[in-house]
Amino acid sequence: MFGVEEFVDETIEDIRKKITGNAIIACSGGVDSMVAAALASKAIGDRLLAVYVDTGLMRKGETDEVRAMLEHTGINYKIASVGEEFFAALDGITDPEQKRKIIGEKFIRVFEKEAKGFKAEFLVQGTIAPDWIESGDGVRDTIKSHHNVGGLPKEMGMILVEPLRDLYKDEVRDVARFLKIQASERQPFPGPALAVRCLGEVTPENVEIVREACYIVEDELQKAAKAGKMEIPWQYFAVLIPTRTVGVQGDRRAYGRTIVVRAVTSIDGMTATYTAIPMDVLDTISTRITNTMKSQVNRVVYDITNKPPSTIEWE
Ligand code: XMP
Repeated sequence: MFGVEEFVDETIEDIRKKITGNAIIACSGGVDSMVAAALASKAIGDRLLAVYVDTGLMRKGETDEVRAMLEHTGINYKIASVGEEFFAALDGITDPEQKRKIIGEKFIRVFEKEAKGFKAEFLVQGTIAPDWIESGDGVRDTIKSHHNVGGLPKEMGMILVEPLRDLYKDEVRDVARFLKIQASERQPFPGPALAVRCLGEVTPENVEIVREACYIVEDELQKAAKAGKMEIPWQYFAVLIPTRTVGVQGDRRAYGRTIVVRAVTSIDGMTATYTAIPMDVLDTISTRITNTMKSQVNRVVYDITNKPPSTIEWE
């Protein structure tokens, strides 16, 4: 069995020996980066800076949740609010791969600036065993350039420290529980965030629509799971598609936006089956979305495709 307490003690000691100057970590709020940050913080205190990049593309309430988590864990942190820069860089871009490339590069530039400002010589990362064991497969790269987004390049000129390198996800969750970190059970979320759930142009208005719709899907499915109506899916969200369709608003013809509801069951994201959401839950989701965004959304559709032939995300 994995000895959590021993691992924590040894790792803190090890980090303390390795990191002799200032260190920085990019913290997404996911369990891996939170645990790595917490261990490094225990080892070197305020010589560690955890940076959370608020790209303006995050889910509803996400930045506040991460801020609360970082406060609670007592980690020295900074929230870089750079939404405007990201929207400017994405202006007019509709190609999904180009979106990923722009977001990935921008993320690195923002992070580099923070590292320089903090005079960081060490880079802490929450890499876990499957990240480097599987990174040679190249399969996903040929479909979407996943690995390039939200990651940091090797040549950043800092010394890399990866305290979780030998752990698997369940072991990281054990450490998170031991350290009383709340981040453990979140659903997977793509690096380029809501940008790839906003088909077509990524404008603040479009992101706001998909953010609200994602929140409603998450909230209603969590409620349904709590009420015993269904199992919580592996991933569940909304997508905004760049098609306007005819509807009625009051007694007038309206030309509104379309939201897709997507929920899948999967083990590793490589294949997936769509989740059969109970009809009454779908009904509630549809009504809530169109009521909340009356002047914008007039149609809600439900994606019933497996992967393959489709992918989980729409871009
Ligand atoms: P697809 O859409 O390829 O997604 O079936 C499989 C899993 O990967 C996530 N995903 C991404 N994760 N950067 C990421 O870090 C990306 O660009 C990206 N695109 C998709 C997706 O949410 C699912 O969990």
